[in-house]
Amino acid sequence: MCGIVGYVGNRDCADVLVDGLSKLEYRGYDSAGIAVFEKEKIVVEKSKGKLNDLVEKMLQGKKPHGHCGIGHTRWATHGEPSDINSHPHGNKRVTIVHNGIIENYKPIKEFLISQGYGFESETDTETVAKLLDYYYDGDPVQTIAHMIDEVQGSYALGIMFRDFPDRIYAVRKDSPLIIGVGENENFIASDVPAILKYTRDYYLLEQNEIAAITADAVVICDNHNRLVEKEVLTADWDIDAAEKGGYEHFMLKEINEQPTAIRTTIAPRIQNGMPYLEESGITGEMLKAFRRIYIVACGTAMHAGLVGKYVIEKLARVEVTVDIASEFRYRNPLITKEDLVILISQSGETADTHAALKLAKERGAATLSIVNVKGSTIARESDYVIYTHAGPEISVASTKAYSVQLSIMYLLAFELAYVKEAITEQRCRELTEALVSIPDNLKEVLEMKERCQFIASRLVNSDSLLYIGRGLDYALSMEGSLKLKEISYIHSESYAAGELKHGTISLVTQDMPVIAVATQSDLMDKTISNVVEVKSRGAKVTMICSEDLDVDKNVANHLVKLPKIDDLLMPLLAAVPMQYIAYYTAVLKGCNVDQPRNLAKSVTVE
Ligand code: F6R
Repeated sequence: MCGIVGYVGNRDCADVLVDGLSKLEYRGYDSAGIAVFEKEKIVVEKSKGKLNDLVEKMLQGKKPHGHCGIGHTRWATHGEPSDINSHPHGNKRVTIVHNGIIENYKPIKEFLISQGYGFESETDTETVAKLLDYYYDGDPVQTIAHMIDEVQGSYALGIMFRDFPDRIYAVRKDSPLIIGVGENENFIASDVPAILKYTRDYYLLEQNEIAAITADAVVICDNHNRLVEKEVLTADWDIDAAEKGGYEHFMLKEINEQPTAIRTTIAPRIQNGMPYLEESGITGEMLKAFRRIYIVACGTAMHAGLVGKYVIEKLARVEVTVDIASEFRYRNPLITKEDLVILISQSGETADTHAALKLAKERGAATLSIVNVKGSTIARESDYVIYTHAGPEISVASTKAYSVQLSIMYLLAFELAYVKEAITEQRCRELTEALVSIPDNLKEVLEMKERCQFIASRLVNSDSLLYIGRGLDYALSMEGSLKLKEISYIHSESYAAGELKHGTISLVTQDMPVIAVATQSDLMDKTISNVVEVKSRGAKVTMICSEDLDVDKNVANHLVKLPKIDDLLMPLLAAVPMQYIAYYTAVLKGCNVDQPRNLAKSVTVE
């Protein structure tokens, strides 16, 4: 989604804005722009396309020179990507950048037109800019407070008022915005990586707080103009975490960071060889008391929840319902105050997951979020939070965030199974120890990149592909399938292997490659029968299985054999070849791996 950066200080503002925006490219965008005070004049430069297109324009002598300004990368919602629809928007007196959606922009626009305002763009944002101009009475804070009363929807805004050329203003509701605090310079940004090069200290702006930011001061007040005191937070991500570090793509780097991410995530949650989740505020006894567990999330995070369901139900014998957040929020779910709703989100800002959280709270259920970004909206608003420590995930396609989400699912399942006496202490210790060994096992799996590269070379010309599996392997293969389609643009579906012959097998020909995930011993024979079925219909089959599988080498065309560990934990290993296969297929096809078309990293609109 859109990215915002703002700067006030002594540096060349345009350079800082472009640099900050480049760190937000991962959010997805189709145009970019900046506005800078040149003395007392607001100068805007913007362009459809990538940041480089904007830089090209600036190199042709159109670079605004100054020390105070705002910048934006736009992910189109209202109006196609174009120079005119790009942000900043406004007029000579008020100029803004916006992330979010203004739901009632149409009546406001009609009103403003009746007051003589003209509009250039098709955006909802321009309405806010002109509304601010309409209310402007010489007092920016008062003006912004008026705007807040009028506007419905979500917004993070960076605002410049011509009369105040030494400062920028910021306000947010339901869209993220932080204020970076430096020495004689300050920033605003949609996310921490944009400011890391300059400072690690930042404030989190809360709902409808208004900030006035100059080079040496940040003054924050609520919408009734009462001053707000805030704690300065310090980002524990260092700058290297947001750079490629020698890898060709962030995705490849992040795949390889999984051992460290898992180790860092689980280490504080294990004590004396047993799961320990109490720092989140949720105890084993509390977990045991819930009637039912719901897991709600989107995309990859929802797939982590599906693995969680299998593991929790298998080990703890507690019913778990997994929901896609955009369905959950509108299906009037049967949640009560006796239930636990677990929200999983890398960004902690996903609009549908956030709405699901609000719904669960309204119904009185306890809410536990599993979130990667500290201080994000979902983390702050849930009753309990378990942070995953994956570090910044920059590639749009999620990899390491998935693994750490799985790791927390496992710890929850072990803890719950143990307190419910569904497993013995010894089994709980064994499983916890196996989880601790995963980072070492993963190092071995990460070495299999050439094998996966070869398999990718066999898939690259396909139009469509099937992933199949049973039980945990089916849950896992959904993620493999999503990864492949989102970055290589090869259509792919994940199917429960046993369900194939109820219709989908009619698609299987020599032109339909199949990837079979078969890591679960109890279902192995059945999955192999399904593999034989598709292979005998011409499909080229890749099988991802464990090394102890004694299988005729002709059963599949290609085998990826993983180290043998406890079956229950196999998804943590089997995810890697799937990620590699997706990655290398996309590379071979020449796709934009880290920023696939039409996708945004943080989906802050519905
Ligand atoms: C796919 C992917 C998305 C996200 C989904 C939820 O690779 O990254 O499917 O998993 O948009 O995002 P978060 O986890 O930020 O709520």
